[in-house]
Amino acid sequence: MGALGFLEGMAYGADYNPEQWGPATWKEDLELMGEAGVNLVSLAIFSWARLEPRPGDYEFGWLDEVMDGLAGAGIGANLANATASPPPWFSHRYPETLPMQRDGTRLWTGSRQAYCPSSPIFREHAARLTEAVAGRYREHPALTMWHVSNEIGCHNALCFCDVSAEAFRAWLRSRYGSLDRLNEAWGTAFWSQRYGAWEEILPPRQAPSFRNPTQEVDFHRFSSDESLAVYLAQRDVLRAITPDVLITTNLMVTKFQRDLDYWSWAEHLDVLANDHYLDAADPDAHLELAFAADLTRGLAGGGPWMVMEHSTSAVNWQPRNVAKRPGEMLRNSLQHVARGSDAVMFFQWRASKAGAEKYHSAMVPHAGTGTKIWNEVVRLGEMLNRLGEVAGTRVMAEVALLFDWQSWWALETDAHPSIDVTYLDRPHAFHRALWRAGVTVDLVAPGASLDRYQLLIVPSLYIAGAETARQIEQFVAAGGTAIVTYMSGIVDEDLHITPGGFPPAFRRWLGITVEEFFPLRAGDRVALDDGTSADVWCELLHLTGAEAVASYADGPLAGTPAVTVHRHGEGTVWYTGTRLGPAGLQRLVSTALTTAGVQPTVPMVTAPAGLEATRRVGDRASYLFLINHGSDAAHVRATGYDLVADREVTGTASVTAGGVAVIRQTNP
Ligand code: GLA
Repeated sequence: MGALGFLEGMAYGADYNPEQWGPATWKEDLELMGEAGVNLVSLAIFSWARLEPRPGDYEFGWLDEVMDGLAGAGIGANLANATASPPPWFSHRYPETLPMQRDGTRLWTGSRQAYCPSSPIFREHAARLTEAVAGRYREHPALTMWHVSNEIGCHNALCFCDVSAEAFRAWLRSRYGSLDRLNEAWGTAFWSQRYGAWEEILPPRQAPSFRNPTQEVDFHRFSSDESLAVYLAQRDVLRAITPDVLITTNLMVTKFQRDLDYWSWAEHLDVLANDHYLDAADPDAHLELAFAADLTRGLAGGGPWMVMEHSTSAVNWQPRNVAKRPGEMLRNSLQHVARGSDAVMFFQWRASKAGAEKYHSAMVPHAGTGTKIWNEVVRLGEMLNRLGEVAGTRVMAEVALLFDWQSWWALETDAHPSIDVTYLDRPHAFHRALWRAGVTVDLVAPGASLDRYQLLIVPSLYIAGAETARQIEQFVAAGGTAIVTYMSGIVDEDLHITPGGFPPAFRRWLGITVEEFFPLRAGDRVALDDGTSADVWCELLHLTGAEAVASYADGPLAGTPAVTVHRHGEGTVWYTGTRLGPAGLQRLVSTALTTAGVQPTVPMVTAPAGLEATRRVGDRASYLFLINHGSDAAHVRATGYDLVADREVTGTASVTAGGVAVIRQTNP
């Protein structure tokens, strides 16, 4: 068994949707899977309508044949319980299970995932189907792991119907215990919002003006828990029938999904699995991929995980679906592996001839096998075969970045000082600066242990409870190095501000007090006296122990501090009160890395912009991943064995423009 507990080496494959084809194609599929080196497929994800064409009437014959074929070919099934999308008969019979938008609009059947996550009727039918599927395939030799539903909450995470309202009230009762406590937490003394009975409380539906921010964030907390409950209910059925089979569901750790707080989901997945798609409008989308992969590894507790879906080329759901250039799919795939994935899986195996995703790329494209995509698919299969020994090794990092979905929700509620201050902006900016410095970073949850880190980045950690604040303070006091940005430590878990100057939770040990926020007009920039510039955000900041590192040279706060540093206990903490441009940010990160004593992953001989370097460490060897996204060859100092090129490397490893290398180095 491999590190993920179900396969030796790397898993390779895709979502497999045989119900869209007939037996002749299934036969060809198995042959082609063999040619590509596929060893795992995610099967039956959208098969509910085919498996249960009429209520309670199951047709498993076709899936038996597909499962038998896979077993015969030595390919594992990451078998879905098929509950991702209820069939039309279900919504027709139970229209009250359809989800509702904020403005009261019902979402109808005819697409997918048209169900309210809180619906007891949906949960009951999903459990029944799960039981039938698990009962049928519990002993099947192809059954490798269970895939519960699909991207739970992708389209329906926030449902505002009456059933959801009832469930929200139950959740609030258990969070607050009493209406008095809820009224206090929600600050309902404001705008005459006081609740006198639980029945008066609703989800934050469309309203005449700004909604109550704590109600809004609590509704997000509730909704994340409800989608998790959808997973848990189905998982429990599977666990009871097949106690020894691993169970997972595919998360959406990406900039496109913000509704689910995956820190609370992670412990419930036997294997942490993620779906990731590039933003075709972003020329540096590989940097966002690196961020998402690091966050997924964080969810996996630093251990191996699997990329359950990505694309061989273009997707079909963005405004302009840019195709991947030659080599790009291989680089993307290796990036996930370089950051801890023990699998490379795609959506989907064979391009659909009909339906809403017929323009989505696949492992077998419409144009067949004499193609760029197929050639790369076969090449990737060979490469992953050689990389089998990497499975189970771990990515090591000395830098941590605190990531918080709840701060994302809270910072982007209505009526804040500037719409230009958005949550992901700073975490991404610091991750990019570290990427450019050649340093690997772990993304961790507020409250996670920081013991093994030298440098801590705290970007836009808007919500900070007393415990989180204490932990960061102690990390610094004990000798750590930290960078904290504006809009961190501003509110507590109820989203209240403690009077006395910003940021209330952090200002004492930052050695500063912020008197007033000074957001900038759209497009305005301010110059700093260190020669760099900033935009979006400034603050009137007073030094109460810290020193100014850079001050504003112009703008509304000319002459006052913009960036500060404070020695606190044995450590050092920087604070940025403005949105530093890339040059200022890179300089700050590089100073902090030096102070913290953190080195890049590998010394560069010639380091073109665009070389990504990470290391996975095992008991006997470590593996240096070099992925060249740039247009010039890169040369780094390294000796070992390149598993991609299948040859020795002595002294200098050279990676062609667009190329990849994975160098095995024996541990000293
Ligand atoms: C998601 C879904 C798949 C498919 C892809 C398309 O990841 O899980 O079913 O729709 O998106 O990119």
